Amino acid sequence: MTEIPEHLLKRSKERRAALGLPGGEGGDAQAAAGDAPVPAEAAPVETAPVAARAAAAPVPAAPPPPPPPPYVQAAQGRKRIPFWAMPVIALLPLWAVIYYNAVKVPPQNDDVLAQGATVYAACSGCHGPTGAGGSGAQLNQGEVLKTWPDPKGMMQWIHLGATDWTGSTSKADYGDPKRPGGPHNTATHEAVMPAFGDLSAADLAAVTRYVRETLSGAPDETDVVNEELAQSAIDDADKGSLVYKNQKPDPARIKASTPSSG
Ligand code: HEC
Repeated sequence: MTEIPEHLLKRSKERRAALGLPGGEGGDAQAAAGDAPVPAEAAPVETAPVAARAAAAPVPAAPPPPPPPPYVQAAQGRKRIPFWAMPVIALLPLWAVIYYNAVKVPPQNDDVLAQGATVYAACSGCHGPTGAGGSGAQLNQGEVLKTWPDPKGMMQWIHLGATDWTGSTSKADYGDPKRPGGPHNTATHEAVMPAFGDLSAADLAAVTRYVRETLSGAPDETDVVNEELAQSAIDDADKGSLVYKNQKPDPARIKASTPSSG
């Protein structure tokens, strides 16, 4: 191995430093550059004449690109947004609209349901404040909706009560004859559902909506259950025409409510 004079080594080191290259010798350069190949000209330290080597200061290939900054590395290592998130994100605005419509209650409806709650005070003694039932039938958790898929029939029932519905206090079916588990029957409960013939059409519609929507979870029935339908329910019931044709109200009652023309 040829000895390189100290001052030459020093000069070479300075020159490399001036060029912004790592290390001052072949060995150092290799260590600093990691696995990047050492330029061919830089390697043969022993063979090249020292002066020539120093003069022909090797102009090595472009230095290895600097490692990306830590924040880029972090971004590259991070988990990507999963594919399924895309439709979810895309549907967010739609969800916002649905949510908004679900929580907002039109003020007019509020009033009707509040009116219904007031009327229901006359019912809660038998049916329970939440409609869970007691001496009267259970109304909540969709039960009343099974008996009365048609709200008009339900209004006729409230208007007539059990006795006028059947013409007697004996066992009789009421409501949907195809009710899941069989039709409901006036003999099921000890108590008798009283007639609420004095309720105005507006009150009847309001309490019906309150029972169905607030207590039993029916969707908003504003468009269906209104004063108009309540009035026709009352009129038809008084004429003896019920929604379910297998059920006939008390004939005596019909006679009584027929306006006398004379
Ligand atoms: C004195 C107790 C009593 C009161 C007060 C009462 N109910 Fe009832 N209700 C009953 C009973 C008992 C039944 C079950 C039928 C029967 O045995 O006559 C019933 C049945 C019903 C049903 C049918 C439910 C089903 O699915 O079988 C509805 C609807 C109903 N009542 C609504 C009302 C409303 C609305 C009011 C108030 C305006 C009211 N009830 C007040 C006792 C009562």
